[in-house]
Amino acid sequence: MEHLSNEKKFKRSLVTSALPYANGPLHIGHLAGVYIPADIYVRFLRMNKEDVIFIGGSDEHGVPITIKALQEGVTPQEIVDRYHTIIKKSFEEFGISFDIYSRTSNKIHHETASEFFRKMYDAGQFIEKVSQQYYDEERGQFLADRYITGTCPHCNYEKAYGDQCEKCGTSLNATDLINPVSVLSGNSPILKDTRHWFLPLDEYEPWLKEWILEGHKDDWKTNVYGQCKSWLDQGLQPRAVTRDLNWGVKVPVEGADGKVLYVWFDAPIGYISATKELTPHWEKYWKDPQTRLIHFIGKDNIVFHCIIFPAMLRAEGTFILPDNVPAFEFLNLEGDKISTSRNWAVWLHEYLVDFPGKQDVLRYVLTSNAPEAKDNDFTWKDFQSRNNNELVAILGNFVNRTMVLTHKFFNGIVPEKGALQISDKETLDAMKKFPDRIAGSLRNFRFRESLAEFMNLARLGNKYLTENEPWKTFPADPGRTGTILNISLQICAQLSIVGEPFLPFSSEKIRKMLNLPAITWDKATRLEWLVAGNPLNPADYVFEKIDDAQIEAQVQRLLDTKKNNESAVAEAAASLPLKPAKPEITYEDFSKMDIRVATILEAEKIPKTTKLMKLKVDTGLDQRTLVAGIAEHFEPSQVIGRKICILANLESRKLKGIESQGMILMAEDAGGMLFFVSTVPEAENGSTVK
Ligand code: MF3
Ligand code: ZN
Repeated sequence: MEHLSNEKKFKRSLVTSALPYANGPLHIGHLAGVYIPADIYVRFLRMNKEDVIFIGGSDEHGVPITIKALQEGVTPQEIVDRYHTIIKKSFEEFGISFDIYSRTSNKIHHETASEFFRKMYDAGQFIEKVSQQYYDEERGQFLADRYITGTCPHCNYEKAYGDQCEKCGTSLNATDLINPVSVLSGNSPILKDTRHWFLPLDEYEPWLKEWILEGHKDDWKTNVYGQCKSWLDQGLQPRAVTRDLNWGVKVPVEGADGKVLYVWFDAPIGYISATKELTPHWEKYWKDPQTRLIHFIGKDNIVFHCIIFPAMLRAEGTFILPDNVPAFEFLNLEGDKISTSRNWAVWLHEYLVDFPGKQDVLRYVLTSNAPEAKDNDFTWKDFQSRNNNELVAILGNFVNRTMVLTHKFFNGIVPEKGALQISDKETLDAMKKFPDRIAGSLRNFRFRESLAEFMNLARLGNKYLTENEPWKTFPADPGRTGTILNISLQICAQLSIVGEPFLPFSSEKIRKMLNLPAITWDKATRLEWLVAGNPLNPADYVFEKIDDAQIEAQVQRLLDTKKNNESAVAEAAASLPLKPAKPEITYEDFSKMDIRVATILEAEKIPKTTKLMKLKVDTGLDQRTLVAGIAEHFEPSQVIGRKICILANLESRKLKGIESQGMILMAEDAGGMLFFVSTVPEAENGSTVK
């Protein structure tokens, strides 16, 4: 992946970052996967005096927003107003330097999206199809999948949604549900004809294959290219771009009352609307092939930005296509998927309360551990150690020592640089190489690598200072001390310049201590920023240690969340209906079963499965192997030695290549919790159960 040659073709850059849904606040996953890398990139381009604009905004349409409004008894507009404000504020506080942060409920967006659709419609670029969909007669409204619940045909769970059963995870069509019920009225919906417009993606397949699979094989990230390839290999289908819903951009066609554009049709057009709002010269960014369009997104957005939106742009015909789509993977939190509904997240607005003024610490940790090529884990321990051992001990320590020594020996006046020794020359030579190296990584979207290089510059400074010991040379040779500190100060200046994209707040702080103006990237190699005789400002700490108590409080908060979630799950399970009774059987039917008391002797999880455990049991009659689906509920160490009941004469069966000779009896509650059917320890193995 080398973009340097590629970039020369371009005069300017248009950088977008995914528009977050305005139905909840932001968490660290948002920052790590989209907004911090985008912001670093844009700040870097700006420091290079390139023509760049950075577009953001809230995605304010879609079914989940209307559901949230329904649950809270407010309008969808109230929901998006609330979260748009919170989200926008978080971005500002973390220094995400958008040129505009817009929103898709704006008039200009409705007009832009509407025109876009209408142009494609007039050119005959959609397929119209009539199909049957559930309709709530009392409300006079078609029902989106999430507005219908019913019994899952696979597991009998009674609260499955029209698109998915959350109990067994199967994805469903609304018409698969048994006894469907409208969430709006509680009535059973009827099926009714409805007309929708489809984008015939299949027709764009040959072009997409050429454009992506051939055109971007070498410059798109492997994870992005791989996902596109797999979509294209599976073959594309026409996709509906309208919905029966009363929240969104109205379908601008006669007789389409009560229909809106599908949220994934209007949202990416939001990038265009926001640009229009920002500048009357918006067309130069969207229509000139010398503009380089770059979308920063998370991996769940790849298909929309690499396949569907480009197909739309091409169909419309007057817009440029993305040159690159640097998508990130996901960030997990303490080993678990971040989840809004389970409150498993570090929320940005809460972070700022607990760690005021420490935006750069989070920016640093999330960049050094960014899920650039694979999913990654955020842990509070790692957060603490990166702060204490890297920001404080390396970067902060170097700047602080340099400042304090200059104040001590030279009253805070930049000392003269005298004759250079070998170590000085080597250090100055080494310094010259950093800006280009950092820039090279950034241009190739290698953020972790570029940040690591930046820290190497701080390491170079620390090493230089430690090895040359300017505090020792002072009594005999103050000139030598001056030279060493002069060079150290130049390193501080360079750190403040090339560190700006990553750590904008701290860079500014260092610059202010050094009394420097903002400096552009091309001047970072000019190592004469601090002129002898100029005064410095007082030394101040740039970073400070985070102690164990602060970290423990965060970890404790997560443990509490976990506990709450577990008891909520148990409570929900307790309120679930039990499975209906089975039909009557005879005693003879029952007596065919040979149920015995047994003891578990050995247990191990079966590799590459999540549910299965291999057990060796003593049945009194023999010792045999059973395979049981209990591995998600118990650890092997918890079951060894247990007295249990087994069905001993069940025909044997091979599971994952292991012969299971019988079945262990378990009680399962309505929520899917498992309990052993056990007996008292005195019951001998082999005792029969009747
Ligand atoms: N709201 C979407 C999400 O959070 C992202 C929309 S990106 C845009 O996954 F292209 F639609 F703008
Ligand atoms: Zn199910």
